Amino acid sequence: MNKKTVKDMDLKGKKVLVRCDFNVPMDENQKITDNTRIVAALPTIQYLLENDCAIILCSHLGRPKGEFKSEYSLKPVAEELAKLLGKEVIMAKDVIGEDAKSKASNLKNGQIMLIENVRFHKEETENDQEFAKELAKMAEIYVNDAFGAAHRAHSSTAGVAEFLPAVSGFLIEKELKFLGKAISNPERPFVAILGGAKVSDKIGVIDSLLEKVDTLIIGGGMAYTFFKAQGYEVGNSICELDKLELATNLMKKAEEKGVKLILPMDTKIGKEYKADTESKTVKYNEIPEGWEGFDIGEESIKLFIEELKKAKTVVWNGPLGLFEFDQFAIGTNEIAKALAKMDCTTIIGGGDSAAAVKKAGLEDKMTHISTGGGASLEFLEGKALPGIECLLNK
Ligand code: 3PG
Repeated sequence: MNKKTVKDMDLKGKKVLVRCDFNVPMDENQKITDNTRIVAALPTIQYLLENDCAIILCSHLGRPKGEFKSEYSLKPVAEELAKLLGKEVIMAKDVIGEDAKSKASNLKNGQIMLIENVRFHKEETENDQEFAKELAKMAEIYVNDAFGAAHRAHSSTAGVAEFLPAVSGFLIEKELKFLGKAISNPERPFVAILGGAKVSDKIGVIDSLLEKVDTLIIGGGMAYTFFKAQGYEVGNSICELDKLELATNLMKKAEEKGVKLILPMDTKIGKEYKADTESKTVKYNEIPEGWEGFDIGEESIKLFIEELKKAKTVVWNGPLGLFEFDQFAIGTNEIAKALAKMDCTTIIGGGDSAAAVKKAGLEDKMTHISTGGGASLEFLEGKALPGIECLLNK
């Protein structure tokens, strides 16, 4: 990485503003249901503690649209963090208001505070300079460790870097190391496996991966758009009719580039979008009218695993079926299990595929599970991430 990290700065005794991605899932009682992103922020926080810094943490949570809403408060995050660190985490009642400012100015070395959800101000997502300046005033150095939000050009992820020396934390460094190596210098064969509902969400990443991979496996809802583009009926399956030409062009591009493009051979279909709907498995080109494709079938699972076994590097993004419903989670789970057994580099893009791997209890078996959903996709697409671009060069 050509960007400075906390290791490149003299941080001893400094007041440091750290942007984390504490956008964690919570249940209806604001109980955190997955603390992965909080745990992922610990190495940077520990390092700053070892350097006797006064640490001001900030993050967004959800999309409160510029207003204070108690269900989007970061208070449960402060409590979880305190538990994990075994140390008090002072919670500010506001973001750049009286409470945050006085707590920040009184903060002693070795203490940690968390300001409220930066998205309680609409200026945050507008990347407003004045708002960024107010955040910056609280500290002497800015550390961005919010990989999951690095694709957002917001005040706390990018704007603030104009007003403070800005470096990355260890999480961003680690994400870039694994994702970066996979796309710039992968051990071959390099196989990407992409799922998810829509082709339109993945156009950029398919297009850019076709320049890099040896094999591209496509599953999930978007496979039906490819079937339709080949002239097959897909029943009620999710299908983007305005993307048929695009799907055809992507298939053409794969052929021109010598990339093996693999689509499912069979599909598990259901009558209705519900957990216990009647279901059966049919060939990809035999989906009857009135039925909807919800998962890859057994033949496809076998075919995909055979291809994955040849790989030295695998990147996986997006579930291969409707994994929220057990009977349509088989494809996603079997691929996760197969990857867990493989002796190769396995990189899991964040979001739903990461959730599926965790649900199966296989997270320790993967080389790297990204904490970024949208951010990891944009990185794989080869886009510059504003939260990283803004940092000081080495
Ligand atoms: C995520 O969960 O992908 C990140 O925290 C970014 O959240 P956002 O899509 O609301 O910007």
